[in-house]
Amino acid sequence: MRSPCSPGTALPDRAPGWHDLRTAASPPGAADQPTHPSEDPMSDPGHLPPADDTDPAVRAAGGWGRLRQGVIYRDGVSGVRPTVPTAFPELERRAARVLSAKAYAYVAGSAGLESTADANRRALDRHHIVPRMLRDVSARDLSVELFGRRLASPLLLAPIGVLELVHPEADVAVARAAAAEGVPYILSTQASRPMEQCAAAMGDAPRWFQLYWSKSEELVASFLARAEAAGCEALVVTLDTTVLGWRARDLDLGSLPFSQGQGIAQYTSDPVFRRLAAERAGQPKTGPKPKVTPAAVRSLFSIARTHPGPMLRNLRSPLPRAAVETFLDIFSRQDLTWGDLARLRSMTRLPILLKGLQHADDARRALAAGVDGVIVSNHGGRQVDGATGSLDALPGIVEAVGGRVPVLFDSGVRGGADVFKALALGARAVCVGRPYCYGLALAGADGVRQVIQNLRAELDLTMALTGCASLADLTPDLLAPA
Ligand SMILES: Cc1cc2nc3c(=O)[nH]c(=O)nc-3n(C[C@H](O)[C@H](O)[C@H](O)COP(=O)(O)O)c2cc1C
Repeated sequence: MRSPCSPGTALPDRAPGWHDLRTAASPPGAADQPTHPSEDPMSDPGHLPPADDTDPAVRAAGGWGRLRQGVIYRDGVSGVRPTVPTAFPELERRAARVLSAKAYAYVAGSAGLESTADANRRALDRHHIVPRMLRDVSARDLSVELFGRRLASPLLLAPIGVLELVHPEADVAVARAAAAEGVPYILSTQASRPMEQCAAAMGDAPRWFQLYWSKSEELVASFLARAEAAGCEALVVTLDTTVLGWRARDLDLGSLPFSQGQGIAQYTSDPVFRRLAAERAGQPKTGPKPKVTPAAVRSLFSIARTHPGPMLRNLRSPLPRAAVETFLDIFSRQDLTWGDLARLRSMTRLPILLKGLQHADDARRALAAGVDGVIVSNHGGRQVDGATGSLDALPGIVEAVGGRVPVLFDSGVRGGADVFKALALGARAVCVGRPYCYGLALAGADGVRQVIQNLRAELDLTMALTGCASLADLTPDLLAPA
């Protein structure tokens, strides 16, 4: 089995600031470069060894946490501050300033009154960490095994759709960042770039594919075949999005990115989907014609710009609009039942994880259906308003699963202490959502890397400060009710 970032692969492969750490003895000023990719020649990926906890630089620094602190404080001596704030509230505030109103609404928004997003936070806050003393924590191991891969840390990047709203390089920037940090990236069905482009940017680094189960079974089969060919190592089936939630921020702006042709790159790059869209384009138009307004013209341009091929040709062709309409028709099925999983099983050789579980009985059914893992998630509060905090659902599901398959967790994770709590309650690993979107907004791939490095650093320091030398030490007795 491959290591997280096996040497010899053409990977983007260094944590920003490693250069600084390793060149501490170089002439004054040499280590004072800002970490922004456009300004730091060493941030060009591909030069330095993998971000792996066995790397001597991590060991020499005394772990991930001290490595990251060292880089930031050393830069600080020269007056250089991190381009990506280390604490989430400021990260979000700064991202809000650089994103368009529609992009920010799409990323930050949750369903309805957004009370589930609040519940996610409250569930984490209700657990306090109780540090333990005088345990040897001089060497800390954050590594974890998932589906035959040893990962340097228990972090994954959650699938996030429509990243072109956030940064022009979208998913490809995230793919480069994930590969550089050895953190698996779960490629979304609603990505802004085809999975093959992300895979090409990732070399041998781990990626998974997230599936929204389309009404076209032929399209599902095509997605799965492409995901396997693109080197995805697991399939994540998101179950909580049979329809889009009631997203007040988007609704009030009248904003649905997909209707602008955004976030449908997996579809428009797919031969089965292209055939379906072409069939639709050949049919006579039915239904009301859209009013011709400046906004409608802008939408037309957006659809033509995002569709593959030259924009001028797309403007004249019925195909781009037919593609959007076809997508809106076949996006997701509402008639799926547990019985359908057997068919999915027969369609792929990849391990299957179900994402969106919140009830222990559903976890039991998932096990009975033979899945290989579950992800406890409420989609970051974006689907059901008034729902339970995701962390509150975790212990019951961990108990129901009883160690038979890995339980992953997401929704509301904002810092290393949050990761610590989820792991202490039995999650094998944690997926991060909005924080990396905001890093992407602020500094592209480098921003995503900084977010990963910060989370990993804070987790490492929290372990050091609570008497934990490895993830096996993270047990529920380290938590107390608030
Ligand atoms: C802007 C945005 C887009 C998302 N798109 C997807 C998606 O395409 N597929 C999916 O399974 N989950 C999607 N999610 C949910 C995330 O995978 C993850 O469950 C959630 O972000 C975790 O919550 P957090 O943002 O509070 O960390 C999306 C979340 C956000 C914020």
